[in-house]
Amino acid sequence: MKAVVWCAPYKVSVEDVPEPKILNGRDAIVRLTSTCICGSDLHLVDGFIPFMKPGDILGHEPMGVVEELGPGVDKTKVAVGDRVIVPFPIGCGKCFFCKRGMWSCCDNTNPKASLCESMFGYTTAGILGYSHLTGGFAGGQAEFLRVPLADVNLQKMPADLTDHQLVFLSDIFPTGYMAAEQCNIQPDDTVAVWGCGPVGQFTIRSAMLLGAGQVVAIDDESAVPERLKMARDAGALTIDMRTENVYERLYDLTGGIGPDICIDAVGMEAHGTNLVEHIYDKVKTNLFMETERPAVVRQAIMCCRKGGTVSIPGVYGGFADKIPLGALMNKALTIKTGQTHLHRFVPKLLDLIRNKKIDPSFVVTHRLPLSEAVHAYKIFGEKKDGCIKVVLDPAA
Ligand SMILES: NC(=O)c1ccc[n+]([C@@H]2O[C@H](COP(=O)([O-])OP(=O)(O)OC[C@H]3O[C@@H](n4cnc5c(N)ncnc54)[C@H](O)[C@@H]3O)[C@@H](O)[C@H]2O)c1
Ligand SMILES: [Zn+2]
Ligand SMILES: [Zn+2]
Repeated sequence: MKAVVWCAPYKVSVEDVPEPKILNGRDAIVRLTSTCICGSDLHLVDGFIPFMKPGDILGHEPMGVVEELGPGVDKTKVAVGDRVIVPFPIGCGKCFFCKRGMWSCCDNTNPKASLCESMFGYTTAGILGYSHLTGGFAGGQAEFLRVPLADVNLQKMPADLTDHQLVFLSDIFPTGYMAAEQCNIQPDDTVAVWGCGPVGQFTIRSAMLLGAGQVVAIDDESAVPERLKMARDAGALTIDMRTENVYERLYDLTGGIGPDICIDAVGMEAHGTNLVEHIYDKVKTNLFMETERPAVVRQAIMCCRKGGTVSIPGVYGGFADKIPLGALMNKALTIKTGQTHLHRFVPKLLDLIRNKKIDPSFVVTHRLPLSEAVHAYKIFGEKKDGCIKVVLDPAA
């Protein structure tokens, strides 16, 4: 089958690889009908997340049709022929964390837990297509995907909605929703969202669905005008990080107290607005003295009003410098973060789609054959050709 393979930093290719097989009794093989490229994949391609090996299959936002099930799968939960989305974190459904709905923190699904323990103290869940740190599972930018513990992980989807309305339930819609939902938004709250990529777009719309008074979106108008326009189309006010002073605009828009909620939907490869800061982080990351560029975390902490909440769906992998702990502590801020506890949100968000409160297909700018994945990575990574979200078609 064809699959998108990580070769080295800045190099992916589409290769012929063996089809996955049932390895354990509760595995499923899913024939994929749509599979997406995520900002998180860019962190792997750009070499920011360690523990990738040449030949690893990328991808963690797929959907498709169940082709085969192992003998131990509970067939009352999932059957051959079912249309399903595949959550990116793999849950066991039985551990302390899964039982509390913290699916991305599952204790049982990372077969390489010791690597993760050495980085984070305790392991997270296994994640599909996301480095050996989270298990080394083959990913879903491919024609077929093996999904472990199929009866807890695969989420059945109705036939009367399109792939583009459903596929983002595998990651970015729940991710944007959780980023907003965990902040306990009140009707008069101002929510500031850094980053108008796909995750930022779902964060903005989720904040509105959850009743925010005002949503302000921040990104680079000269580099990605289409993303800021999409944010304005959703009803957000926008700030251009290049020509405007983000702190001052947010101060003015909130009567001088700062946003109640500040959400970092950018992550570890943020561009600094301040040249000295950007060079500092670039030099330190190049020398492996820092693993990320936390410009947005710093700015969000400084901009947030006293007693407010900073929510971080943007991905970080290691260690960052110059985080303003003094501001965090003295302003009594709350930090919320996490890889998305995906399974928890699927029923509720599927209802929102069914009830026409949101149509997630708004974010798709490109549908391309899987065989054109190298080009797709280029336009998504370099923000070219108006690219906001690419869906790859494995069958084309
Ligand atoms: N928590 C989770 O479970 C989860 C799931 C999916 C994605 N993510 C993460 O969410 C983040 C965003 O993903 P995406 O697909 O939207 O990525 P993306 O690369 O398409 O979008 C990032 C956006 O941030 C903008 N940006 C860069 N620096 C900025 C700054 N200083 N201020 C404001 N905007 C800035 C870029 O111009 C770009 O539009 C990534 O870190 C990704 O790994 C997390
Ligand atoms: Zn993702
Ligand atoms: Zn578990």
